[in-house]
Amino acid sequence: MSFPDGIADFRSDTVTRPTPEMRKAMAEAEVGDDVYSDDPTVNQLEDVAAALIGKEAAIFVPTGTMGNQLAIMLQTRHGDDVLCDPGIHSRNVEKGAASALSGVGFRTVDAPDGRITAEQIDEAMSLSGFFPRIRLMIWENTHNLAGGKVVPLEVMAAAEPTARRHGLSIHLDGARIFNAVAASGVTAERYASHADTIQFCFSKGLGAPVGSILCGPSDLIGEARYLRKRLGGAMRQAGVLAAAALIALRDRDRLVEDHELASHLADELSVVAASAVDSKQVETNMVQLDANRLPVPFAIWKQHLDLDGIKVNSPFGNTLRLVTHRDVDRADVSRLVDTLRRAVATA
Ligand SMILES: Cc1ncc(COP(=O)(O)O)c(C=O)c1O
Repeated sequence: MSFPDGIADFRSDTVTRPTPEMRKAMAEAEVGDDVYSDDPTVNQLEDVAAALIGKEAAIFVPTGTMGNQLAIMLQTRHGDDVLCDPGIHSRNVEKGAASALSGVGFRTVDAPDGRITAEQIDEAMSLSGFFPRIRLMIWENTHNLAGGKVVPLEVMAAAEPTARRHGLSIHLDGARIFNAVAASGVTAERYASHADTIQFCFSKGLGAPVGSILCGPSDLIGEARYLRKRLGGAMRQAGVLAAAALIALRDRDRLVEDHELASHLADELSVVAASAVDSKQVETNMVQLDANRLPVPFAIWKQHLDLDGIKVNSPFGNTLRLVTHRDVDRADVSRLVDTLRRAVATA
């Protein structure tokens, strides 16, 4: 259901607002100073997350960006390159943090939908005598810029031995790993077993207001605690946030509803804009439209969206991304598709 003010927001799954149950848990959370590791709710969240992901330890961080950047900081040295596909969030959307904070560059391989192969790793590493050293590779699953595509477990498994042979550490940006889990039926632990570290976000489809977590071996997470403080990300009575995150994590199976809604959205849109959308490409909670193939210019559609109180992001390049989440439903999908119908009728 749309927000109380009638706004239906398809910009991102980050726009969800805490449920009444989350707000109550936040109000009643037992707290302490987490810089002293005294916050029982944060400690519980870290224990639950580490166990679920199958890693020794976990650290609660304010954002996914901080989780990724700590992982990079911990597993590289200044001057290194990080191996990845060109579309990953930590390379494109984290405001140059990896170069500013860790002094690293990125060595990209052309891997559609983030599916890096063993051959591509071999090829990148064969140049290591000339180019900067690579110590870390990063996966993103689900892959945001690829439209929420799942990187299949077999792809990660097939690449890992080669990465290890070259001595690489592996980080998984699993901001939406539970969307991958909901779509594939593969557990988060199995995806994470092909990486040393994984970060995932409570504040996206899982629906908590704030927070992400970095999981990995105890020694790395211990060092992450030191670096988190350096970055200003060590929080005090953060149990009020962890309380909501615990509920978000408990209810993670709900994500299948977002996926069903995204498929429905794509199907409905394809009735009006057949050549702009391919429903078969929808794997999780994102629908991508080719803005150049819309039946009316986006700017005209946008006027109708604005009038109807529907929020969408402007196209990124040619791609318009619509995201489903807990705070939109089928009625909102109908409203959105109607605005496009009206735009076409009046254009
Ligand atoms: C794949 C991916 N990784 C990391 C992040 C960063 O999360 P945050 O916005 O909490 O910093 C995002 C945010 O959208 C994301 O999509």
